[in-house]
Amino acid sequence: MKTLIRQATVVLPHETVQTSVLIDGHQIADIDPAPQISVDETIDAPGLHLIPGVVDDQVHFREPGLTQKEDLASASRACAKGGVTTFLEMPNTIPHAITQERLEAKLALAATKSLVNYGFYIGATPNNLDELKSAHRTPGIKIFIGSSTGDLLVDEQEALERIFAETTLPITAHCEDEATVQANRERLAGTHDVANHSKIRDHQAALIATRRAIDLACRHQHRFHVLHVSTGAETELFADARPWITAEVCPHHLFFNVDDYQRLGTLIQMNPSLKHREDNAVLWEALLDGRVQVIATDHAPHTWEEKQQPYPQSPSGLPAVENSLALLLNEVHRGRCTLEQVVHWMCDAPARVWDLVGKGRIAVGYDADLVLVDLERTQEVRNERQVTKCGWSPWHGVRLTGWPVRTWVMGHTVFNDGRFDTSQPGSEAQFDHSLGGYWADQA
Ligand code: DOR
Repeated sequence: MKTLIRQATVVLPHETVQTSVLIDGHQIADIDPAPQISVDETIDAPGLHLIPGVVDDQVHFREPGLTQKEDLASASRACAKGGVTTFLEMPNTIPHAITQERLEAKLALAATKSLVNYGFYIGATPNNLDELKSAHRTPGIKIFIGSSTGDLLVDEQEALERIFAETTLPITAHCEDEATVQANRERLAGTHDVANHSKIRDHQAALIATRRAIDLACRHQHRFHVLHVSTGAETELFADARPWITAEVCPHHLFFNVDDYQRLGTLIQMNPSLKHREDNAVLWEALLDGRVQVIATDHAPHTWEEKQQPYPQSPSGLPAVENSLALLLNEVHRGRCTLEQVVHWMCDAPARVWDLVGKGRIAVGYDADLVLVDLERTQEVRNERQVTKCGWSPWHGVRLTGWPVRTWVMGHTVFNDGRFDTSQPGSEAQFDHSLGGYWADQA
């Protein structure tokens, strides 16, 4: 099947131009092909922008074990709607993905259920080192240095040293210092005020754990990606670019802060917690100056009923994959950043960080994971329109300008102006860790 996307404004790796893109099978076959080319389908796209599909390297899709919140079918539909064509999923499903066998069970589930491309991290525990050393078909190792949802935690220095010393896969971590969080929790015991979540999981908790993880990564010269940076202070740790360390922020840490608890309550309770308005500003600066390279969602749905429980019974996490691209396109509309920067943060950079083969760029020979976006379209986020199983969004009622209108996964249209085509599943993402990661590619 050959498809010609005609005359969109296309974000290519080094320029943005109005041109045509030819898809042949699952690949991008040509850019600006000869006009007489014969194709099966032509899509006229003047006035629209064509970008690479978003690679979201931090999601919790809850299958197996927690499918009352989400599952791979509902989550991947949300991805298709949101312009996310590849997701990398975290190991805190039930049972935890901490062995090769469990990784492969997840891959087998996704092969029939996921509408978009997929990959799954292997989770670290204090005693699964052999599994971590031999793991394959995975982007890398996830460590919870600080507990979050579930009970995956590696806090002992000796266990952390061994993981950084003896494994070869890239490592990524949730960084919140367990001792600091516990001490704050005791101090604020009995509170039902969700605003105290940010005092329990405070600035220090994030800063101490991120500093500790960077120290490990530096001493062992181990490739390391810091997940969901939430404080301005942490970004200073990335000021000396080290060619094996990268970092990311999430939309909620860019757009929400403690002032929003009054309006949104436990819906915006997440780990790491929200910080202050000044942190929002520094996180933006860090993205713009390159200290932070990636935007990912940490999509972590819980049901509405679960979220309505009083703090601290209310679980941490919120859904975001179907709105993350629109949230950033809205910032393009507002003039805070360019479309090319959004493509870098959400598509190209995460593909480089995780050595994804054929992803993140519009280039000949790359996979035809593509999104047509309408930068002029204004639409309101509504709970009742969410396709995530949990059925709510913390951005309910927010009007955004700039939306994905059509999404291709491996050359196949999965979402087109409100309609899904679920006839063809996505593919297992391929990782080639000899590519050397983000900085190897920037050199
Ligand atoms: O808020 C969060 N929720 N942060 C995490 O790290 C985990 C996630 C979840 O799985 O619910």
